[in-house]
Amino acid sequence: MSALAELLIAWQKEHGRHHLPWQNNTNPYTIWLSEIMLQQTQVSTVIPYYQRFIRRFPAIDRLAQAPLDEVLALWSGLGYYTRARNLHRAALLIMTEHQGVFPQPREAIQQLPGIGRSTAAAIAVFAFGQRDAILDGNVKRVFARYFGVADYPGEAETLKKLWRLAEQSLPDDDDPASIRAYTQGLMDLGALLCVRRNPDCGRCPLQHTCIAYQENRVALLPVPKPKRSLPEKQTVFMIYRARQKLLLEKRPSRGIWGGLWCFPENAVDQDRLKAESGAHNGVELPQLMHTFTHFRLWIHPQLVEVNAEIGDAGKMTAWVAPEEALDLAIPAPVRKLIVQHFLNDLN
Ligand code: ADE
Ligand code: SF4
Repeated sequence: MSALAELLIAWQKEHGRHHLPWQNNTNPYTIWLSEIMLQQTQVSTVIPYYQRFIRRFPAIDRLAQAPLDEVLALWSGLGYYTRARNLHRAALLIMTEHQGVFPQPREAIQQLPGIGRSTAAAIAVFAFGQRDAILDGNVKRVFARYFGVADYPGEAETLKKLWRLAEQSLPDDDDPASIRAYTQGLMDLGALLCVRRNPDCGRCPLQHTCIAYQENRVALLPVPKPKRSLPEKQTVFMIYRARQKLLLEKRPSRGIWGGLWCFPENAVDQDRLKAESGAHNGVELPQLMHTFTHFRLWIHPQLVEVNAEIGDAGKMTAWVAPEEALDLAIPAPVRKLIVQHFLNDLN
């Protein structure tokens, strides 16, 4: 038997949850209902809804006979109402296509609306004692850590790898008690110890064989969704300086940095400015990068000393001392440039 299965089963018996309302029976209907409710809702919220639902619809035929409105009314407050619609549809299908008998094995359960592979497997395990693997969100996290899977679990290939690990980790005996304790143990571990933030590895039965714990990578796994690379754009900031004052320009209200004061973005006619005020050649300052939601902007600042405070006709411009500029509405990279190159630097 895998170390994981053996340790988990022993731990579940001692420390797992044994008295949830849907446990300690093998009724596929109530197990199905609980698994659907637990898909996107936490246990403490589910319990009263589960109990009301079972009281009103104690069996599949009663659910199938009810008008959808009544099912939705009982679901009211749980959210994700597609779950309730699918539940009702599936109850009707079980009555018409399966003679009112809940289908098995897992592959047949999975054909019902609203039931994915992991939910179908959980029902197959708890209701029928079938030896099958689950892989819900919590279990993905446990496996990613335990096996040190350093790929994003949302990728199809990573999912394939995780499913393979889930199948290989199952207890190898055919005693239904083993697969039930193991499956419940995975759920309990993911909910009680191996939680998303600050998992309680100190009390975890798997710590001696857990790769993430052994390699001190618990906080790094599972890895987050990779940031897609953003398109890159380039721009030149013209920094005109006259008598220690800098030329800023108010940007049009639409577009990036709308209405903010900015260095002219290649916008001042440099030749005209040179001709009129006798500018020196520019000095390139180190480039800096600014990230927007949809692109990265590489900024190439060019410092140009001019002799007179001139403006650019038709634009809102101002000559301001660096300290004053910091009190204006200026975008982050402009602030950064001023702080880095012009503050207390009145050479
Ligand atoms: N989450 C999903 N299925 C569960 C179950 N059967 N018990 C506790 N939490 C769960
Ligand atoms: Fe999760 Fe920590 Fe246990 Fe590893 S040792 S399975 S990271 S709780």
